[in-house]
Amino acid sequence: MRHEERRISAIFQRAILLAMAAPTLAACADAGSVGPPSTSPPGTVGDAGSDATTTQSIDGGLAFDGGLHVDDGGICASHLIASEPVDTCGNYVRLPCGVPQGVVPRDNCYFEINDCASICPDTYFNCHAIGDSCLDGGAIVADDAGGVTVDCAICLTGVGRIPAGLASGAVAVAFVHPSPVGAYFARASHFEAASVHAFRRLRRELAQHAAPPRLLRAARRAERDEARHARLTARAARRFGAAPITPRVHPVAARALDAVALENAVEGCVRETFGALVLHVQAAAAGDRAVATMLAEVARDETRHAALSWSVAAWASPRVDAASRARIAAACAVAIAELRRGVDAAASIAPDAELARVTGLPSREVSHILLNVLEADLFATLPRA
Ligand SMILES: [Fe+2]
Ligand SMILES: [Fe+2]
Repeated sequence: MRHEERRISAIFQRAILLAMAAPTLAACADAGSVGPPSTSPPGTVGDAGSDATTTQSIDGGLAFDGGLHVDDGGICASHLIASEPVDTCGNYVRLPCGVPQGVVPRDNCYFEINDCASICPDTYFNCHAIGDSCLDGGAIVADDAGGVTVDCAICLTGVGRIPAGLASGAVAVAFVHPSPVGAYFARASHFEAASVHAFRRLRRELAQHAAPPRLLRAARRAERDEARHARLTARAARRFGAAPITPRVHPVAARALDAVALENAVEGCVRETFGALVLHVQAAAAGDRAVATMLAEVARDETRHAALSWSVAAWASPRVDAASRARIAAACAVAIAELRRGVDAAASIAPDAELARVTGLPSREVSHILLNVLEADLFATLPRA
């Protein structure tokens, strides 16, 4: 584990040095002056006002408030649909009558973040048309059935693992004053709390498959870390006027080792590892002293979690068959591609200046540099078939 942590830390250092040389981050760091935020804390909120908006079942899907659109032909009810293959980072929404009136898509099949609020269930970070609804040139069109399918991305990098069984669509952020910074931390806290479940389950499943005690101990420590992260980010959310909603995670039946290894590779070796690196960059660039200190603490923990993921992968890989290793490698390739799309998605939406300043969120250019280094130096060492 120590060996993996040192290896990953060395790669992170190279990536961060390259990223710091990028004009956008350098400029930010120069101005950066770590200091108090310009937004005055609007106070704290409780769960009152939380808007669990899922309401009724339509055509086997879930309709939700805000998902009803009046069109020429009458009322169209958007609904959640299952993704195939399963996408743990997206809620797929079907708009049976196409793009709602008044919604103007941006380039690359993405919608404005405000329009995502009317299209998506209440947890999302961006949304974009997919499949036949998105032409190669980036235009959104109705598909053969006359509708549009939208992927409402629910994963936020840097916030840990998404556990199987995480309830989607019925989680929300309660606002006193709409604040992008508060929303960011409330969503982060939601997923940090979900990561507690992910590591608790990982520990139990590792025990069931007779993994060495050092991995079980590390998973237990990571579970405690994630609970602390959830509290830290919830505190930050409340400071900026928002509050997280506790995640609901449905029970998952005992899984075979190949399923555990696949989830670990995608959620841990790819997503959590990239998230840890992004957090280091954010900690260096955040323009708010308290936020920078918190992000640095979380980044250190997340680097250790990344090392745990890679140690679990090294232990599990020889214990699953070649077909499973091929499936895991393919799933990782999809997850890496999804990270790239996510980076581009974030860039296609006009960034909120205060959010970028307070949290040090990296630009698209910096994010691609980080991903490039990870792909070349780390992801290339993922176990293969
Ligand atoms: Fe983590
Ligand atoms: Fe975390």
